Amino acid sequence: MTDYKYDFVNVRVRDGIAWAALNRPEKRNAMSPALHYEMDDALARLEVDDAVKVVVVTGEGGNFSAGQDLKKFFRELERDPAERKKAAAAANRWRWERLYGYDKPTIAMVHGYCVGGAFMQLLACDFAIAAENATFSLSEVNWGILPGALVSKAVADTVLPRHALYYACLGEPFDGKEAARIGMVNYAVPPDKLEAATIELAEKLMKKSAAVLRATKQAIRHVRTMDVAQAYDYLAEKGKAIKVADKEDSYNTGMRQFLDEKSYKPTFEPFRLATVDQRSKPAAKK
Ligand code: COA
Repeated sequence: MTDYKYDFVNVRVRDGIAWAALNRPEKRNAMSPALHYEMDDALARLEVDDAVKVVVVTGEGGNFSAGQDLKKFFRELERDPAERKKAAAAANRWRWERLYGYDKPTIAMVHGYCVGGAFMQLLACDFAIAAENATFSLSEVNWGILPGALVSKAVADTVLPRHALYYACLGEPFDGKEAARIGMVNYAVPPDKLEAATIELAEKLMKKSAAVLRATKQAIRHVRTMDVAQAYDYLAEKGKAIKVADKEDSYNTGMRQFLDEKSYKPTFEPFRLATVDQRSKPAAKK
């Protein structure tokens, strides 16, 4: 098994799920340049680790993240533009480019504080589950900057404009239930159920074909900015591409299990993966 050893990131891989946790609990997981470099490296490695099917992004010590480290990322780097550029590139790469286009499903598991720059990884992950008593805040307005990098865009693309304007302009904190109500997370659960709810979602995802899941999440993300003709064309080609990449031969396996074996109903459950289920092997020719 691959060993992931970092100073400011904890990575545990268990039963197909990688838990990638920011690890500066005494600073509420505020993100320093060193943390960004490590997280960027960890996510790149987890993406190609065969033992990993789903990645959960979270934080140690009961908090998701208090955002960028105001001292180490902002104040100290003002005097060092070269390092500032390098750190910003790593920060944006893992919090947005990597997670947004990640080959595997990603879940943000939010507890405690989720502030400012932490909205990047929150909103780049495919799914997000929060503890009901988590505290979210777009605090930037309270200390004189905009929700930067891509935070403003990610927020504006995720929730209705009234909610985006309200919380960005007021900087008021809101809890996990409110985050679910406005669509910032998928759902909120009691704090003691958070990990179990995250595992439950990850397990549901692992029952689906990885190739079909990857293509589906890319499709949902990319069609948003396409016109109708482009979307028709893109989706048709993406559909063909799945059949080449899919180890499960999902289309034929699903059809066979529904039409011939009558062993499942796609409206309610996924087909049984061909790679793990012997029953779905094609019947021998007579
Ligand atoms: N950058 C740098 N240091 C931070 C930090 C941040 N974003 N957030 C917390 N810390 C540090 C504090 O300075 C403190 O350090 P110290 O022990 O050396 O004094 C330590 O983490 C604990 O923070 P503290 O404020 O005492 O904890 P708390 O639980 O009472 O409050 C917060 C937690 C998150 C509400 C509060 O720390 C806060 O408002 N932080 C700023 C968050 C922010 O605006 N982030 C936006 C950045 S884009």
